[in-house]
Amino acid sequence: METLISKLGFSLLLIYTFTFYVPSFSFSPIDNYLINCGASLDSVVDNRRFISDSSDSPDTRLSSSRTFSLCAGTLQPGQPQIYHTARVFNAPSKYVFNVKEPGMHSVRLHFHRFISSRLNLGNSQFHVLINELVSLTNFSGGNLMGYPKVMEYLIWVNSEKLEIAFVPARKSNFAFVNAIEVISAPKDLVLETAQYVNGVKVEKFEGLNKQAFEVAHRVTVGGVKVTPFNDSLWRTWMPDDAYLKSSKESTKLYFGGRIKYQDGAASREVGPDNVYNSARLIQSKNASIPNVNLTWEFPVIDDYKYLVRMHFCDIASISLGLLFFNVYVNGHLVYKDLDLSAVANYELASPFYADFVVDADCSGVLSVSVGPSSKSMEYAVDAILNGVEILKMNNSVGSLDGKLPAELLLKCWHRGAIGILLPLIALVCLLMSLSAIMHRRKNKVDAVPWSKLPTDDHEISPKQAKLQLSNIVT
Ligand SMILES: *[C@@H]1O[C@H](CO)[C@@H](O)[C@H](O)[C@H]1NC(C)=O
Ligand SMILES: *[C@@H]1O[C@H](CO)[C@@H](O)[C@H](O)[C@H]1NC(C)=O
Ligand SMILES: *[C@@H]1O[C@H](CO)[C@@H](O)[C@H](O)[C@H]1NC(C)=O
Ligand SMILES: *[C@@H]1O[C@H](CO)[C@@H](O)[C@H](O)[C@H]1NC(C)=O
Ligand SMILES: *[C@@H]1O[C@H](CO)[C@@H](O)[C@H](O)[C@H]1NC(C)=O
Repeated sequence: METLISKLGFSLLLIYTFTFYVPSFSFSPIDNYLINCGASLDSVVDNRRFISDSSDSPDTRLSSSRTFSLCAGTLQPGQPQIYHTARVFNAPSKYVFNVKEPGMHSVRLHFHRFISSRLNLGNSQFHVLINELVSLTNFSGGNLMGYPKVMEYLIWVNSEKLEIAFVPARKSNFAFVNAIEVISAPKDLVLETAQYVNGVKVEKFEGLNKQAFEVAHRVTVGGVKVTPFNDSLWRTWMPDDAYLKSSKESTKLYFGGRIKYQDGAASREVGPDNVYNSARLIQSKNASIPNVNLTWEFPVIDDYKYLVRMHFCDIASISLGLLFFNVYVNGHLVYKDLDLSAVANYELASPFYADFVVDADCSGVLSVSVGPSSKSMEYAVDAILNGVEILKMNNSVGSLDGKLPAELLLKCWHRGAIGILLPLIALVCLLMSLSAIMHRRKNKVDAVPWSKLPTDDHEISPKQAKLQLSNIVT
């Protein structure tokens, strides 16, 4: 009898486990390339293997005529191995990735200007193109010496290849990169439409998922930094403190319960648990509703459109239907009396996000605010925000960094290259005709020994013999 009961109990436990415990399947992208640039060995960071770019792979290849690998002189303890090596390019070069499934791809470029006696990486200056998109111009690997800089993009790929080209800005400059990630994004990461906040009007913005984006700011509100280790898409979310205008009236909240992701709503890939389980609130503790807004300000660059994604999750209310608030982007009301219970399908602790497209203006800041509305209640939560993402959108010439389209940037390099190529060809012709004359004069006395033309290819390492060569990036 006892065993029967315990067996019954065990099977009930099993049933319970399978019905109520929802395992969090981790996202497995179809395209998932992690490259350790300039390294001879693979390197594992947070359980992810970055493959050496000198190993042969059918799906990725480096195409460069003048490149070498560089190692950091001193290793900084605690820094991932991928930042100890770099690949340096003296001429336009590209990595080519086979795309198994077209669609949105996340691209991360890792730069670290480490100390090396061979080369000062701070002297680099280069442009980076991703397919036809200009992603960086006149770039030198970030502002802060000694700290890695990760640039992150979301790129719509409608072809079988994704090419990342590094183009030195001038003949005397060079380009470098430490690591590259190319990952298929989940289909629901960027939707087709958003609300376009155009002055006081709010219109529909179409074709959002075909734009290119650079991640300008990604912030978790009220919580600690979220590292790639704790994010299903290996993103980094910074704490919001540096962007919050005034923290006087706000309360930080941490929620220890389970975040309830629902089908068709924000998924774990849109925002991880660690972002939704913290927030800042405006709270009414007595019979009056605070007359304040919570405002965050983000530096942006004039002349670009930005996608603003605001993440909400009611981890604060004691029951449904108590939280109503207003949401503002650049001071314009974009949500009046937002009812988080209704938009989250009447579940507490269930995430919801909203996308807005805005034009950056000459003020150089983009602001988002939440504040009490006329429906806000006493003795309740009167506004909440859990996370914000600010993504820069490509301009009409297909650039995220400047007004020059990709063809023009490449043309500049070719013009520079032709500048030294023509005299070189002239010299070769001269030498050849001279040698022909000498040859005739000597009249077969001695065969003219073949001699190597002077070129500046001396920096190619033997490893480069393995790399497929192509002189010109097209
Ligand atoms: C890069 O900087 C140089 C001057 O340092 C400038 O002449 C050039 O226009 C810049 N190129 C781009 C693409 O911004
Ligand atoms: C991941 O998240 C957990 C729980 O929030 C935290 O304790 C841990 O330190 C985080 N790990 C990393 C590597 O960020
Ligand atoms: C409610 O509390 C706030 C501080 O939290 C205080 O400034 C305000 O005067 C109080 N209002 C009333 C009506 O007690
Ligand atoms: C909150 O911000 C909006 C938009 O900037 C503004 O209209 C409103 O007056 C602000 N409320 C308070 C209490 O400052
Ligand atoms: C971004 O580039 C695409 C194609 O290159 C273009 O259709 C789109 O209009 C650009 N976006 C903006 C906001 O100009």
